[in-house]
Amino acid sequence: MSAKPTRYHVKSFGCQMNVYDSERMGDLLAAEGHVATDSPDDADIVVLNTCHIREKAAEKLYSDIGRLRKPRADGGRRTIVAAGCVAQAEGAEIGRRAPAVDVIVGPLAYHRLPDLLREAAAIPEDARGARWGRAIDTDMPAEPKFTQLPARRHQGASAFLTVQEGCDKFCTFCVVPYTRGGEVSRPFADLVAEAEALVAAGAVEITLIGQNVNAYGLELGGGETLARLIATLADIDGLKRIRYTTSHPRDMSDDLIAAHAEIPKLMPYLHLPVQSGSSRILKAMNRAHTRESYLATLDRVRAARPDIAFSGDFIVGFPGETEADFEATLAIVAEARYAQAYSFKYSIRPGTPAAAMPDQVPEPVKEERLARLQAAITAGALAFNLASVGRRTEILLERPGRKPGQLIGKTPWLQSAVVDVPGAKIGDLIAVEITAGHGNSVEARPIPTLQHESVPA
Ligand code: 5AD
Ligand code: SF4
Repeated sequence: MSAKPTRYHVKSFGCQMNVYDSERMGDLLAAEGHVATDSPDDADIVVLNTCHIREKAAEKLYSDIGRLRKPRADGGRRTIVAAGCVAQAEGAEIGRRAPAVDVIVGPLAYHRLPDLLREAAAIPEDARGARWGRAIDTDMPAEPKFTQLPARRHQGASAFLTVQEGCDKFCTFCVVPYTRGGEVSRPFADLVAEAEALVAAGAVEITLIGQNVNAYGLELGGGETLARLIATLADIDGLKRIRYTTSHPRDMSDDLIAAHAEIPKLMPYLHLPVQSGSSRILKAMNRAHTRESYLATLDRVRAARPDIAFSGDFIVGFPGETEADFEATLAIVAEARYAQAYSFKYSIRPGTPAAAMPDQVPEPVKEERLARLQAAITAGALAFNLASVGRRTEILLERPGRKPGQLIGKTPWLQSAVVDVPGAKIGDLIAVEITAGHGNSVEARPIPTLQHESVPA
């Protein structure tokens, strides 16, 4: 009789990049013969993939570790892995504060996870079952981990493909350049091959992801760009939709904007974080764009693709932000006409320049501004969804809805569309008409065939 397989659980705390990394760590563990479980409580190996961008990331990590280090119901012991950006930034501190952690691995080293687990397993345990040490890899090697990871093939109808990692921009509030290192792009040919394999395995939509996805190729120096990559992938038969995220306003090049006009498979959606509507604050953030240059970029993209849906990220309460600065942020929400947006209260990341800036904004002021900003964003999202009523389009079915028979799909503008289509299944691309708009979603009804029509701006 064979031994019971080791069960693993990977918990993701953060951004899309973090979710993707979690899946890849899961792939590595599955390749070692371990079996996934949805429950961290039942698992033998629990990977906590942290995200430093989220508030209270370290506290969440420590509270999870506190729970997981207790023995399982069956008396078994869990191997705890701290991964991701918090592990990168605070590896030594985690070792001191949470001796129960067996492995600490940064986002640039997780291809070594199986080796690190073996190293940890070889460390002797004390009488209470705690190890005397742990396996750590928080190096930032020059050789990108991509070259050492197997290509991903099975991701379903909508697949992610990491094209670059890291960031050279050094926004003064952000830890990413410190935890994920500088911009590194994957070789063009590898990406095309991986995209072809994903489509062969059933993907109809590919989202190209990277911290600064539109900086793709720049540091390779061989003329590779995100626009060229999109154009090449658009030739793959069977691939119906291409998306990319997250972009920096500074790298919205002419060829990428032109791609929105020229490549029908490129979906009319652009996530372009602005962070603030005040040029003074943007300068203090080291964003390399102003309010005006950002709005001018949106205008250029809208001229190329009039029905484009924009989304953004905002930070309220950056050090020194006055009421007038904040009102400029509120005003830009209306001016940009975002289809949706994400907003955060500024929170200090130790070691970043903004952490040491004077005039930190009091918490109650941040809270009040966040509430006002979110009200403006929600109103904009509702207006966008209402304006799309009557559009005939296609949705890619992604998951079951709340009521029996209902399915939820994504429109080209990344709206969640609820639809009742007998006989349809997840992964199908179906023709619909949008019949109602809400704050977070739209309703749709199936139509026999799609008559393409031009969509209002
Ligand atoms: N405080 C608040 N929000 C932050 N973000 C990044 N760093 C911080 C911070 N220190 C937000 C930005 C970024 C998004 C992913 O997270 O808006 O675009
Ligand atoms: Fe962070 Fe700015 Fe880089 Fe985005 S562009 S990852 S916010 S430093």
